[in-house]
Amino acid sequence: MRVPILKQRDYLIASIQSALSDEDLLQLRDDLVQQVGKYRSKGAIVDVTVLDVMDSFAVRTLRAIAHMIELRGAETVIVGIQPEVAFAMVQLASPSRTWRPPSTSRRGSRISTARPGRGPTGMASDAPERLVFIGSAADIVAARHEGRSLASRLGFSSSDLTVIATAISEVARNIVEYAGRGEIRLSLCQQGSSLGVCVVAYDKGPGIPDVEKALRDGYSTHKGLGLGLPGARRLMDEFEIASQIGGGTTVTMKKWAP
Ligand SMILES: Nc1ncnc2c1ncn2[C@@H]1O[C@H](COP(=O)(O)OP(=O)(O)O)[C@@H](O)[C@H]1O
Ligand SMILES: [Mg+2]
Repeated sequence: MRVPILKQRDYLIASIQSALSDEDLLQLRDDLVQQVGKYRSKGAIVDVTVLDVMDSFAVRTLRAIAHMIELRGAETVIVGIQPEVAFAMVQLASPSRTWRPPSTSRRGSRISTARPGRGPTGMASDAPERLVFIGSAADIVAARHEGRSLASRLGFSSSDLTVIATAISEVARNIVEYAGRGEIRLSLCQQGSSLGVCVVAYDKGPGIPDVEKALRDGYSTHKGLGLGLPGARRLMDEFEIASQIGGGTTVTMKKWAP
């Protein structure tokens, strides 16, 4: 959906009305930059109040908008970031706050981390499954929506729901960007009396040659922020990635309800 841009004297106001796909965000970037040039605006205000997720792609695009507008001699102000969204963004992007497990097991190209004190986990017997086919940017929005709605059954705080949706967004986008297509499987999982949400992102794409490297902050083969995998790992309680060159990638993540 195209974001309406209002002209108020020397300023432009872009008021986002609903969840945006990647294409919508890029369209907003192009529209805003073009209009700042056309009207010789002093600045642009981007209202993101309705966004319930800001993943690394959204952050990168907003940063690009601010940079391109600055090159045209104007300023950008982002207003209305929801507290939950800000919380998830900080966790996604701040290595200094990284929680590190006491041990990381590495077997071949499989890396997994789990919070201490958790044993093996299983699916809840009545686990509802949702399968979201991922083949385009619109499917990323659908996957995080489904994840949020499944997790909301378990009494997660709205902040945790945003965290889960953000992690789903990152792994779903990786499927689109690097594998072209794949799927996200969402289910409830159980361990003792704890219930959680389990996300499996699966693709049969090219695989990741060096998984350890791909989990480093800032590592990207695609001019991305390189925060998707390490950020999703920080956001979730459990994270496992298995990848085979030529055989595809599977990321399994869990978040336990309070
Ligand atoms: N599903 C996947 N298939 C193949 N390569 C992947 C996949 N997911 C991630 N990668 C590789 O891992 C790197 C790091 O991913 P990520 O942390 O999400 O950062 P970014 O997407 O910004 O590059 C990517 O640049 C890519 O090379
Ligand atoms: Mg990524």
